[in-house]
Amino acid sequence: MIEVSGLSKRYGDFTAVRDLSFTVGPGEVLGLVGPNGAGKTTSLRCLAGIIPATAGTCRIAGHDITADPVAAKRALAFFPDEPRLFDYLTVRQHLAFVARIYGVGDHEALAEPLLVELEIADKADQLPGELSRGMKQKLAIACGLLHSPQVMFFDEPLTGLDPLGIRRMKDSILKRAHAGAAIVLSSHLLHLLEEVCSHVLILKKGEKIADGTLADVSARFSKGEANVSLEEIFLRATGDSET
Ligand SMILES: Nc1ncnc2c1ncn2[C@@H]1O[C@H](COP(=O)(O)OP(=O)(O)O)[C@@H](O)[C@H]1O
Ligand SMILES: [Mg+2]
Repeated sequence: MIEVSGLSKRYGDFTAVRDLSFTVGPGEVLGLVGPNGAGKTTSLRCLAGIIPATAGTCRIAGHDITADPVAAKRALAFFPDEPRLFDYLTVRQHLAFVARIYGVGDHEALAEPLLVELEIADKADQLPGELSRGMKQKLAIACGLLHSPQVMFFDEPLTGLDPLGIRRMKDSILKRAHAGAAIVLSSHLLHLLEEVCSHVLILKKGEKIADGTLADVSARFSKGEANVSLEEIFLRATGDSET
């Protein structure tokens, strides 16, 4: 569903992501973790076709993001860490606008349950300036889910949400995975990733240092102990003493 091969991204002389390869199948949720500056946002932007990669390929539901960007983008949704909204469109108008761009037919029938699921139905006629940060994030997510994408990239979607919002977002993500979506999720909330992700990929300074199921990666960094937490794996994998 998501097939990434040899992805690299340079900004001038600086290589932010180097030779990254991985796949995510239907129903899988890959947790993308790594210290600040490791290249998570850069990778997600390249995979979603927001910025061009310097080298490598990414196929979304069989469509190459560079050669066939329209078909690839129809199948995906990218949720940036900072929600970008239109100042003069209400919540409901955002959904109507996005529905037209993606050619979603009966958008009202789809939009209403999303507003309820994301708990912004009572804000339907408000402008972004009247919403809290968490609500803006929920609106951006409702917009992205409207065309029922098979592939989803979430860049730190849990930041800025309250504990209940985090729990609900986790449920929304799992619901899409159970329905067969392939999902990549970057976050520093490692205990939450443990509950949501089937797989993890650890990035450090633009390079993949481990990936696989949580159990695989845990086994690789354990020193014989059972049940090593993702936080402990992260610290061992990205700490300087281990590399
Ligand atoms: N537009 C840009 N121009 C130059 N360097 C950038 C740009 N965007 C990100 N970088 C650099 O690339 C590296 C990876 O950044 P980023 O992908 O945002 O990391 P992360 O999301 O893992 O914190 C960092 O060193 C960052 O400073
Ligand atoms: Mg980032």
